[in-house]
Amino acid sequence: MCGIVGYLGKKQAAPLLLDGLKRLEYRGYDSAGICVLTPQGDLDIVRVVGKIAGLEERLRARPLEGSVALGHSRWATHGRPSEENAHPHTDCKGGVVLVHNGIIENYQELKEGLLKRKHKFRSETDTEVLAHLFEEEISRGNGASETAVVSSVRRVLKQLRGAYSLVVMSKKWGRQIIGIRKDCPLVVGLGAGESLLASDIPALLPFTKNVVFIEDNEIVLLREGRRPVIFNGSGKAVNRPSQEVPWDPLMAEKGGYKHFMHKEIFEGPRSFEDTLRARSYEENLEALLAEAAIRRQEIMRLRRVTILACGTAYHAGMIGEYLFEQWAKLPARAEIASEFRYASRSIEPGTLTVAISQSGETADTIAAMKLCRKTSASVTMGIVNQIGSTLTRQTRGTLYTRCGPEIGVASTKAFVAQLAALYLLVLGIARVRGAIAPVQFKEITRELCEIPNKLRWVLQETEPRVMALAQEFQQAKGFLYLGRHLLYPVALEGALKLKEISYIHAEGYAAGEMKHGPIALIDSEMPVFCLAPRSSLIYEKMRSNMEEARARGARIIAVVTKGDRSLDKIAHQTIVTPVLKHEEFEPVLAAAVTQLFAYHVARLKGLDVDQPRNLAKSVTVE
Ligand code: F6R
Repeated sequence: MCGIVGYLGKKQAAPLLLDGLKRLEYRGYDSAGICVLTPQGDLDIVRVVGKIAGLEERLRARPLEGSVALGHSRWATHGRPSEENAHPHTDCKGGVVLVHNGIIENYQELKEGLLKRKHKFRSETDTEVLAHLFEEEISRGNGASETAVVSSVRRVLKQLRGAYSLVVMSKKWGRQIIGIRKDCPLVVGLGAGESLLASDIPALLPFTKNVVFIEDNEIVLLREGRRPVIFNGSGKAVNRPSQEVPWDPLMAEKGGYKHFMHKEIFEGPRSFEDTLRARSYEENLEALLAEAAIRRQEIMRLRRVTILACGTAYHAGMIGEYLFEQWAKLPARAEIASEFRYASRSIEPGTLTVAISQSGETADTIAAMKLCRKTSASVTMGIVNQIGSTLTRQTRGTLYTRCGPEIGVASTKAFVAQLAALYLLVLGIARVRGAIAPVQFKEITRELCEIPNKLRWVLQETEPRVMALAQEFQQAKGFLYLGRHLLYPVALEGALKLKEISYIHAEGYAAGEMKHGPIALIDSEMPVFCLAPRSSLIYEKMRSNMEEARARGARIIAVVTKGDRSLDKIAHQTIVTPVLKHEEFEPVLAAAVTQLFAYHVARLKGLDVDQPRNLAKSVTVE
């Protein structure tokens, strides 16, 4: 939540930061602002309520001049979205300016102290407190030397509790910028004669692919004409080599699509394929296990699996639960990370703990994983998309999904790639444990490798029909999504997609549960989206549930297998997906249909598909 950026170089900084902020806008879009250090050494700030487009307009009317700058896009935590609460924040004298992502937990206490010392506040934010603290410590400090700057910063940090990444400038420091990280992401980009700071890689991609990830409790100093210097918590310089990000800048562009979400749904097949690449065959098994950092002996000793995730990633985890049980014959449980961290579950010896996250920055998932790591009994790994993110440093191994940046706030291609990673992982573990024979492994992986093309077919062939349905149902007040077994999580995910971007209330239900309550909702005004592919073992049961819904007047949209005409009479409309040999792959195809449906409903309603209200892409606060 909240996007932060910083620039130090020779170019005019404001347009560059504006571009960076646009690329981070998915992190928050309540207000935005930029501050430059002018050639005269002053701090010049522009802030607006609302989206980056508003900031861009303001900057057109009042351009900012300077080549050292910082910027922010906000997702409000403390204080409503307003110009006073927008970042960057300054102290009373306007000597320090900073942007912040995270929460300062003890800000009230700090603010009381500052008020006693006659500081005056303009905003309701926790962040403004930091500007005042920096101002005090910098005035107390001894100039702008590296040692003086770092020791002032460390004196401030000692007073703070909470999670934060910060970018700070001061008139006294001149052409220098400080970046600080604790439990919120921060990455440095190394360009030619310029350095950048950002909370996420997409903001850096137009400038450089050469990055250095800042670790918790570290401070980074950007200075003219030299490589940024990193200091650890005790103030010692750290030598960390940079790394090249394998992402193309074009990945973070809309590429002719109206919305990122639409583009990303269509990137699902490529994301799935890339995630499988060089990992899916028996001869790749060792490499796969090495990435996941699990040894064969550990796999043999496994007794259960715990999957930790939130939102869409949790739905992928629920499918993982079925896969582990079906293929690897291992009891598995997917846990909502925010619940898990406060439940008194014990992690028993022989547990494999897998955290799933697109961003790798979700606070609850990270906290749940930290909790598991405390018990040495657990073997930990992550399925993560964002390279170098916090979660990747909390687990022993990481199986990266290879989606490239996901910008649309509603997660689509990441879900598909998370499933690809789960198929690989579970098949690998099942193979090592001998739960599936080599022939079966070969047969399943053969179909696994065909899934991207089948998914391409689904997207291309079903979109016109899905669009027509979206047109017909866009005014619906509510929706039920029903599925069973492996498709129950897809019903939950379909409902989540619809509600988050179209603001239509939708509920996902295990179809068998319908009779235990939700059937009371069903009438001609409550459309039902049924996931009923033929290959599923529970097809007959699903069919009965559809009959029951129809008998109560529901209009049914059904996802069915190509060639199956037997549901035509029950469903109002059917959408076909290709025949599969292994039902375990049905979720990938069915999910794509639900993603397309949600997208087109929201688009037709004229809503902001990529940045739905109240949401932010990475939930880095609890
Ligand atoms: C829904 C969505 C969210 C995320 C959830 C976890 O479309 O995007 O539910 O799935 O916030 O995020 P990550 O995967 O980044 O941990």
